[in-house]
Order: sequence, then structure tokens, then C-alpha cells
Amino acid sequence: MVTTTITLDLIEQGVAYIESILPNGFAPKVGIIGGSGMCGLQGAFHGGTREISYETMREAIGDFPVTTVLGHPGKFLFGHIGVTKTPAVLMCGRTHYYESHELQIATLPIRILGLLGVETLIITNAAGGLSSELKVGDIVLVNDHINFPGLAGSNPLRGPNIGALGPRFLPLADPYDFALGRVAHRAWKDLKRDDWKLKLLHEGVYGFVAGPSYETRAECRMLASNGVTMVGMSTVPEVIIAAHCGIRVLAMSLISNVSVMEPGPRGDDPDFVARSNEELGRFMNKDKANHDEVLEAAHGYVDKIKNLIVKIIEIEMTR
Ligand code: 6GU
Repeated sequence: MVTTTITLDLIEQGVAYIESILPNGFAPKVGIIGGSGMCGLQGAFHGGTREISYETMREAIGDFPVTTVLGHPGKFLFGHIGVTKTPAVLMCGRTHYYESHELQIATLPIRILGLLGVETLIITNAAGGLSSELKVGDIVLVNDHINFPGLAGSNPLRGPNIGALGPRFLPLADPYDFALGRVAHRAWKDLKRDDWKLKLLHEGVYGFVAGPSYETRAECRMLASNGVTMVGMSTVPEVIIAAHCGIRVLAMSLISNVSVMEPGPRGDDPDFVARSNEELGRFMNKDKANHDEVLEAAHGYVDKIKNLIVKIIEIEMTR
């Protein structure tokens, strides 16, 4: 396994480049990561944003990771959010492990945001729901995670530790900030007062898998029986790096599809009758995860997440 070394010097170069573009004295306090199809979160900003594309970052400092996936345009957007005019940065699109980025490289932007002054990171993702309580469009606050690749050796902190940023052996008992979670529930309650259609703000455990293939039926059952509420291919490496450099984290999943849990039909099942191959195909493809469906759900529900994030920031900044 290749381990890529990120140096403090590289992170500082990234920070210096961004500061050279931003207006003097502008320092984002809040960072937001927009998951698949969630660039619509940029509607949270007041007018007058500045943007820096990941391509530009790569030209400026070399190793910066560039997105390759549809629905992940790849740029930083800087501006102000909410009645509090809180200076913030939105990452419109992120890079993933499955794009062949080493996790150390994929999470470089988080370290740059940390040195830039970001104190709070709000992470969004689209995820598959593994609980019968979850429907497409539901939002689940992440209160814990299981890092499947990490348990097997792929951790973004693998390799030399940058002691100036954080510890070699990072405790991860509470990476999701409890107080911020409380604020999120309060914000949701506020929003519900004006929108009776809003139901429950769920909480659950995010299972990080490497992807890019989706899970088999048996894997979904295994994840669910291991206490995983929703499954996805992002977020956890970012959470680990944010925790390492002392950034508070709030993470939320938009349920973009509900995972198929029940076993498929067996060839020797005398009760299963499909009258044609087409009919069998329709049965087998029912409810299978696909990227178009994930993007469609994200586009459809992004406003709900945007309103929640704006409210969270407003409450947090006036406390
Ligand atoms: Cl069902 N699985 C994974 N691994 N990632 C997803 C997903 C499912 N739905 C959205 N992202």
C-alpha cells in the first residue's frame, strides 16, 4: 500500500495561496462539505462569493486532489452565511478514496481549512439507508461511525504524523460534537414550526466503505447487523482529519436510496416464478442503488439541508 506524505509546508502553501486570493482579513470560521449533487448548498451564501477551483489549487501547490465524479464540480466557495453574516467556505464537491486518491491526499483540503481558521466543519453526504425507519429524503445526523477500510489499514493518518497539527494516536471516542448535534436538533425544531411536512431528524451510525461498487445484499445485511444505520463512501476520512487538527464536526446524511436487504430469489426456489427473462430482470433490479438516483435525490432535497445548515450556523453564532 502506498502512503503519501503530506507535509506542513504543503498545507501552508495551500493556505497562503487561498489567502492571496481572498479579500484582506477574510477568514472562514465555518466549513461546509457538499456531498454528491449538493452544490445547491451555495444558495446558503449571501451574494458576493469568491471561488477557487480545485484545478487552480493543483496548479498553485501541486498535490491538491481534483474531483472526477459527476455531481462533484470541485471548487471552494467563500462568502457569508445567515443573518449573522458568518464567514464560511463551502467545498462544492469532494474527492473520494475510490477515485484512487490516497486518503492522505483526499483529506488535504480539510487540513488547509483548519490552518485557514475553520473551527467548525459541517459535512454532508448522500448515503444508503439500512434501517427500515429510513426513507429517501430523510436526513440522519451522524452520531458515530464504523470505518471499515480503516479497521483494515486504510486510515488517513497512516504515515508520518505532523506533530504540529495533532497527536500520533488520535482518540476517536467522540469525533461528532455533541453540542453541535444539540444545536442541529434545535434548528430542526425551529424549521418544523414553519413546515409541517418536516418529520423526524434521525440520528445514526455511518458505515464508511471504500466503493465504488455498491454493496451486495449480504453486505447490506452484515452492515445492518453490525449497527450501521446508513452506508456511504465518504465523510469518515474527513472527520478523522478534522478531529486530528481540532475542528468541531457535525455530519449529516441525506438518504438517497434504501439499500436492498432481502436475499434475492434462489434458482431452486419452487415458489419463485418469473414468466420471462425481462420479468426476472425487473425483479432483480428493483430498488438497486445507482448514481443517477443518488444525484436525483440530492438535487431534490438539497434545500432542506441548506435551510438546516443556515439555521444551525445562525443559532451557533448567536449563542
Ligand atoms: Cl447504497 N452505498 C454506498 N456505499 N454509498 C452510497 C449509497 C449506497 N447510496 C449513496 N451513497
